[in-house]
Amino acid sequence: MGKTLVIVGSSWGDEGKGKFVDYYAQKADIISRVAGGSNAGHTLSIDNVEYKLRLVPSGILCKDKLCVIGNGVVVDPKVLLEEMDSLSERGIDVSKIRLSNRAHVVLPYHQLLDNLSEKSRGDKKIGTTGRGISPCYIDKSDRIGIRVCDFIDKEEFAAKLKIALEQKNIILQKVYNHKPLNYEEILNEYNGYADRLRPYVCDTITLLNEELDAGKKILFEGAQATMLDIDYGTYPYVTASHPVAGGVCVGAGIAPKKIDTVIGVVKAYTTRVGEGPFPTEQLNEIGERLRTEGHEFGTVTGRPRRTGWLDACVVKYAGQISGIDYLGVTKMDIFDTFDEIKMCVAYKLDGKIINEIPASLKVFAKVEPVYETFEGWKCDTSKIRKYEDLPANAKKYLERMAEVTGTKIGIISVGPNRDQTIVVDENIF
Ligand code: GDP
Ligand code: IMO
Ligand code: MG
Repeated sequence: MGKTLVIVGSSWGDEGKGKFVDYYAQKADIISRVAGGSNAGHTLSIDNVEYKLRLVPSGILCKDKLCVIGNGVVVDPKVLLEEMDSLSERGIDVSKIRLSNRAHVVLPYHQLLDNLSEKSRGDKKIGTTGRGISPCYIDKSDRIGIRVCDFIDKEEFAAKLKIALEQKNIILQKVYNHKPLNYEEILNEYNGYADRLRPYVCDTITLLNEELDAGKKILFEGAQATMLDIDYGTYPYVTASHPVAGGVCVGAGIAPKKIDTVIGVVKAYTTRVGEGPFPTEQLNEIGERLRTEGHEFGTVTGRPRRTGWLDACVVKYAGQISGIDYLGVTKMDIFDTFDEIKMCVAYKLDGKIINEIPASLKVFAKVEPVYETFEGWKCDTSKIRKYEDLPANAKKYLERMAEVTGTKIGIISVGPNRDQTIVVDENIF
């Protein structure tokens, strides 16, 4: 039996999952995405060259690894091919990508409906990435979605697209007063994409399970994060999938017993894109400084990310849900110049400490973060490669994070580059 490692986001996304996925991909045989779609944006820096990935697993930047897009992913064929082409142009081999025949396909009406639905919500909008993610998952649940196996079968695609588009065109015209989309145009354009993707399609469930049985190491690359999960996040300000560790079982066809280790990625502070509650948000010069010095602008939409002090309560919650064994902490270097750093270690509601994340957003909006203050370390950590060489104040901050969340720290990042990494435990994977 091989080994599996799952990397999940512990907060509201963009924790730097891609950076650690790239690090552990070097030790893996296979890297697999299991949920979400091109709403994800993972930026990786290798030898100061930047790569931005949305659908292709971040393992693509390590040579000779199988990169699997699992059945739980919603795949925009146009985005996937653009990404593959741009990687190929940069000399990266994309021949080892495998696409699940059970994944659902994002079509032009999904993106259009995403944007029209957001517009119609006015100031109640979710702040989606506008990539058609939720409309595609809606179709999946409504049993009118189109799966990759049918997309690459010309007859099936023509028939299934007809049924789906008839329904969408009624919605477009009657609900949104929008002109209908043309069947032939979509069919022709997308048949072209299907022809190009066909060689990469296979039954990834069999592939992953056989490889695991044969002793291979599989890394499951999380996208989005716990607080964006449709069940566990700040509903309705969430995405439409399950980015928690359990999502690996349904999004890749891997049995729960076969998940060996889970790393939860935590940024040294907290950020969020889009609308919804964010108790530790700093709408002041601290927040501005975190955004500027941390380069907190979305990979997919370029939107400025909302910023605040680390919310260790949500990290602890993420730990419960995903069974996080180790924390992977990123962006410690962003605090190098700070005099003082705060961490939210508990929530108070009506003057009392609470032990849960309130389900009701009305209640969640009322929680008061309980902060502890830490002295800054005021030195450059970006060249440090060993835990013991970190300044004492940085260690204090990390130790407290581990204590509050009840999870040990496994790996730390002190800069965007692959080598700017401090491995605390060598034996994780
Ligand atoms: P993901 O979606 O979780 O993979 O995260 P993103 O890629 O959206 O955002 C994380 C950003 O932080 C990327 O631009 C990374 O290059 C960058 N990054 C990751 N780790 C570090 C770090 O330790 N220090 C600094 N300064 N940047 C980092
Ligand atoms: P990575 O993998 C941060 C957010 C959107 C919005 C909500 C719903 O890079 O961490 P959607 O388009 O999914 O329907 O939008 O979810 N969101 C993300 N925020 N990082 C992501 O991915 C995200 N994927 C979705 O901003 O608030
Ligand atoms: Mg991101």
